[in-house]
Amino acid sequence: MKKYLVIGNPIEHSLSPKLHNYWIKENNIDAIYDKKSIKEEDIKEIISKLKNDNISGINVTVPFKKKVIPFLNELTTLAQETDSVNTIYKKENKIIGDNTDIGGFEHALKHINYNVRGKKAFILGAGGVAPSIIYALKKIGISKITLSNRTKEKAEFLKNKYPDLNVINWGETSNSDIIINATSLGLKENDEIKLDYSKIGKNKLFYDIIYNPGKTKFLIKAKKFNNKIENGKYMFACQAQLAFQIWHNVKPIINEKVLELLEND
Ligand code: ATR
Repeated sequence: MKKYLVIGNPIEHSLSPKLHNYWIKENNIDAIYDKKSIKEEDIKEIISKLKNDNISGINVTVPFKKKVIPFLNELTTLAQETDSVNTIYKKENKIIGDNTDIGGFEHALKHINYNVRGKKAFILGAGGVAPSIIYALKKIGISKITLSNRTKEKAEFLKNKYPDLNVINWGETSNSDIIINATSLGLKENDEIKLDYSKIGKNKLFYDIIYNPGKTKFLIKAKKFNNKIENGKYMFACQAQLAFQIWHNVKPIINEKVLELLEND
């Protein structure tokens, strides 16, 4: 039986095992998908398990999407362009790092018929998933991206990679069409992002990368200010679908049942 794993810290919130194991069963694949909370010093050993075929594939979540890179043999173009890996596999004896967050975010916007072309985006956060969001938005024709992060150096670091990024201080707001929470604020119940919602206006799209809980304070408050809201559930399902395809060469279905599986339990 093949083994798959998602690594991160914290990892309790991850619904990847639930989703992948559902698809594994649906497609009659002899495999199991588990989750493991790790420390940075454990990365080497986990990757060596992939080299030795003890594990067949790994998903990577916060805070290791960049930290796994030195342990891999090759990166796909998407992983290279974003310095971010969320899916690892072995091909021709090489350990490859790929990025399916980009495709996941793109598909999620398409799913809600949101046309990015010519619009302005405001991204909160400069952690592991931020470069994937930036890359996807640029690819599908965003006109301007403003980004703010508590630790400004990390935002400036991203600006080195994407020079047309407009970096503002944490706590400031930007006049934008789509506001994206790419921080981990919201994973815990009392987490709140300081944001002047009244300055942002209404009828905007507030997108939270977080999918569990399904309604963060960021989304609840945005809704109160008459904005459209969307959590990261569909993006999550799409990035998982792309990873599943890479590993098993089968495109699993995303339907109502699958999305129900990802409801907060
Ligand atoms: P990493 O920063 O190691 O890549 P991550 O989980 O991918 O980890 O990113 C977490 C993101 O949430 C970062 O943008 C982080 O801001 P910092 O770069 O300043 O750490 C943001 N974040 C986490 N906790 C936060 C908090 N209490 N207030 C503001 N931003 C926070």
